[in-house]
Amino acid sequence: MLEFLRQRFTKVIRVKSPSEIEAMRKTCKLAASVLKMIEPHIKAGVSTEELNTICHEFIVKNGAYPSPLKYNGFPKSICTSVNEVICHGIPSSKKILKNGDIVNVDITTTLDGYFGDTSRTFYVGTPSPEAKKLVETTYKSMLLGIEQVKPNARIGDIGAAIQKFVEPKGYSVVRDFTGHGIGKEFHEDPVIAHYGKAGKGMRLRPGMTFTIEPMINQGTYKCRILKDDWTAITTDGKLSAQFEHTILVTEDGYEILTIDNGAERILEN
Ligand code: MF3
Ligand code: CO
Ligand code: CO
Repeated sequence: MLEFLRQRFTKVIRVKSPSEIEAMRKTCKLAASVLKMIEPHIKAGVSTEELNTICHEFIVKNGAYPSPLKYNGFPKSICTSVNEVICHGIPSSKKILKNGDIVNVDITTTLDGYFGDTSRTFYVGTPSPEAKKLVETTYKSMLLGIEQVKPNARIGDIGAAIQKFVEPKGYSVVRDFTGHGIGKEFHEDPVIAHYGKAGKGMRLRPGMTFTIEPMINQGTYKCRILKDDWTAITTDGKLSAQFEHTILVTEDGYEILTIDNGAERILEN
């Protein structure tokens, strides 16, 4: 590529300075601690509104702002996406969790001007074997995507690793929502698709920060947005699961920023 074009292209991606990376570590660690804090509250009979309130208060008490609140008009502080909801589910006192549900809780915090973004899909009570397999596959696909991250790898390597793992199991990768660069902005370049071709796309550079957040569906990847203008659901009503981490490209690989002292519970088989 012509040098002047290359420079214009790479300038769009904000490579973070050491002090910015420190700020990212702090906000991401807080976001991770919210997920850890909320886990014991996730049980049958609880409304997603109650989860929203508990997370909101915890985030504010820790000196941060719950980034989704008022973001492009989003009305709540977290996203809660139950069963066939792919993402951006709006917490509601009418949505009561029941045994066998799966619910993704997506937490984004703004601390000292920097965003940290992470989500997990939790089981409510005992999952069906089918739900458990989807959730575990989704989690593993995120880890496989993360393992691709190192300087000079390409963005396409991430999506290819995820797609190659989930599609042979009969699942599909959501197209309409992607991972994203993150830092002083909630969503910035680059776009991180969770499908694609290895060896294609922009090269990763140390200091880049972005999310990897595959949404994996039992059936079709096609989605529909509800009348609330936010809630994305599967068109076939089948389950969708998601996990998300904010990742830093380091000199020799990656660092998962949205980890609370490494205390993240790895899903057992
Ligand atoms: N946290 C979501 C993401 O992973 C974005 C939520 S935007 C909101 O990118 F407005 F719905 F909160
Ligand atoms: Co995100
Ligand atoms: Co998120």
